[in-house]
Order: sequence, then C-alpha cells, then structure tokens
Amino acid sequence: MAFLADALSRVKPSATIAVSQKARELKANGRDVIGLGAGEPDFDTPDNVKHAAIEAIRRGETKYTPVSGIVPLREAIAAKFKRENNLDYKPEQTIVGTGGKQILFNAFMATLNPGDEVVIPAPYWVSYPEMVAICGGTAVFAETSIEDGFKLTPAALEKAITPKTKWLVMNSPSNPSGAAYTEAELKALADVLLKNEHVWTLTDDMYEHLTYGDFAFRTIAEVEPALYGRTLTMNGVSKAYAMTGWRIGYAAGPVELIKAMDMIQGQQTSGACSIAQWAAVEALNGPQDFIARNKAIFQGRRDLVVSMLNQARGISCPVPEGAFYVYPSCAALIGKKTPSGKVIETDQDFVTELLEAEGVAVVQGSAFGLGPNFRISYATSEELLEEACTRIQRFTGSLS
Ligand SMILES: Cc1ncc(COP(=O)(O)O)c(C=O)c1O
Repeated sequence: MAFLADALSRVKPSATIAVSQKARELKANGRDVIGLGAGEPDFDTPDNVKHAAIEAIRRGETKYTPVSGIVPLREAIAAKFKRENNLDYKPEQTIVGTGGKQILFNAFMATLNPGDEVVIPAPYWVSYPEMVAICGGTAVFAETSIEDGFKLTPAALEKAITPKTKWLVMNSPSNPSGAAYTEAELKALADVLLKNEHVWTLTDDMYEHLTYGDFAFRTIAEVEPALYGRTLTMNGVSKAYAMTGWRIGYAAGPVELIKAMDMIQGQQTSGACSIAQWAAVEALNGPQDFIARNKAIFQGRRDLVVSMLNQARGISCPVPEGAFYVYPSCAALIGKKTPSGKVIETDQDFVTELLEAEGVAVVQGSAFGLGPNFRISYATSEELLEEACTRIQRFTGSLS
C-alpha cells in the first residue's frame, strides 16, 4: 500500500514557483539573473493598511475569528461589490479566506464530485487545473488564440460544455496573458451560459484594479444579472493593495454555496488571520489613491516591455489590457539554433536557453496550457525590465 495519497499523483508542482527557485539558485551561485517569473507587485503595502494592522494588534484583535470572517470585513466586502461592481451582496453572502487561493479551493471542494467537469480557458493560471484535480473533478480546457487576444469565444465555450460541466472559470484580467474581457465579450459568453442552466461561473477578479488606458473592468454577474444566482464572484487584496503576504481573499455568491465553503474552511484553517482581516478592512474602506498611482506605473512598464519585445527578432507580443503580465509568442523561433548548437524545439527550450545564455528567467507558455509562448511578469523596476528586454533581444538575435 502506497503511503502517499493517490490524489497527489494527479497534481503537478507550480511551474512559476519552480522558475523563481531556479533563478534564486543561479543567483546564489553568483550569476547575474533577472527574475521575471514572480506574480506579485514589487510595491510595499500602503502605510494606512499597515497602521490598521498595528492598531488591531494593540486592541487585542488576536483571537480566533468567525470562520467566514469578521463582520466589519464582510460588510466592507459587500460595500466594495456595490460601489465598484454594482452588485448587491449581503454580508452573509460573503466569505473571507486565507488568500484567493483558499477561496477557489473551498469552492471546488464544496461542489465537485468525481467526474464533474470544470471548463478552464487556456492559457490559464497554473493552480486552477491542479485544484480541480485535487478536489476530484476533471479540468476541460477551452483553447483561445493570440488572434482572439487570448479570450474565450462563445463558440469555444459552447463546445467545451457537456452535461457534466459544473463550473466555468473566468479570470479577467488574466494571469498569464493579461487579457481582459469587455462588457460585450462577457455578454456574448453569458448568452451561452444562459442556455446551459447547469453551469455555474467562478469569476476570479483578482486583477480587477490593474487595467490600462480607457479599458473598463466588468464582471459577469454585473453584465448579466440573470447569472447572479449561479455565480461566485471572487477577489482579494493581494494584487490591488500589494498585500500578497497578508493572505486575504474573498468571494460572494448564493448563501448555500457560501455556507458549504464555510463548512470546508471550518474544518481546515477556520477564520483567516485576525490581524490581516483588520488590515483588509482598511484596504477596502480607506483611501484608494494607491491603486491609481500604481496602475500608472504598471502601464508605463507594460508599454516599455511590449515595445521592446516586439523589436526582438522572432517575438510577437500583443498588448494586454491588464494585470502585470505579457504573453508573447516565440513560435517563429521554434526550429532555430543557439550559437552553441542547441535546437529550440519548444517554449520550454526557449526559456531554458534564455536563462542559460542571458540570465533572464521567464515562464514557458506550456505551463499555462498554451504555447509556444512565454510569460513575463513586469512587476519589477523599469531599469531591470529594460535590461531584461535588451538581453532577450540579444538572445533572439543570436539564434540562426
Ligand atoms: C489569477 C489568480 N488568482 C488567484 C491568485 C491567488 O491569490 P492569493 O495570493 O490571494 O492567494 C493569483 C495569484 O497569483 C492569481 O494570479
């Protein structure tokens, strides 16, 4: 009898964490490495949020909290959904978890039976299929294309849905592509969902506040109110408020689903960290000017990276609407040779050779289910980004 659970054999380690690890190792060995693999803002948490946490400690807010979260935070979440998304959720329709990750996990754990299918548009964030697998479900990938801006089309959605489909996972703006759906694009997908009443939508809106230019963020239950009763709208403070280490994510949806998620969480972690919850209350209720400031910085970096990558031979980089990632294609470089004679056969080869030759760490598209591409996180300084893109240009120029 094997000691480790069978479920483990269905799960892969995170490719994005593996790249960061490899870059750290090379750095420790004295190599000059620029890591563009990390999925977190390089900014510090705003001071007002830090102070709220310090005050919470001083007040003695250091005990267990209710499993679904402290009342002031659930009220702040309900108010946020009304203010920013025009969605009416009562505090009892909300739940707070230890990061957005736990919210997603709880939702799958609370709803998936063996054989249940979850439609995941590719490219996807690496954790969705793994979470679905751990929870006993089956991931069904719906491919997108660079021509469609890496966005799911109604026809591809229709094709992916079967009688066993339980969820569609939406993630806009997307990790890894940065693609974000317009209101019209969401409405067209909603029309397919309206015809398939057994399919629920789990919308991961973690990057809501990072959209650029005049792009207007919308979420599916807002665009199609008829889907409100079968949508879980998930979000968190990690990316918008530079709070990745505080571990606070949240969601809102129908009370029965929230209660089921509360049940899972109650036997797992119970309530999220009390101090981090008070910090999140301040993040959501306090001044929001931090967001606009950082958005402007990210937009400048996006424009720099897209422009420099498109000047690299054989790279084609679309302009993403949001998040802090670009997802260029390296299809034109497949079959080319490095100066040392290594043939680039896959996007995995491309990122390995790039790291070897120039010390730039990016993540291969195949890890996100669509390639040959690679993901660059531009959550780092313009200076480093410029240097990294110069090295990428030099690397692609050296291929023959
Ligand atoms: C699309 C997406 N959803 C969820 C998460 C998880 O967020 P958290 O750090 O709050 O668990 C991430 C983090 O990388 C993400 O990129």
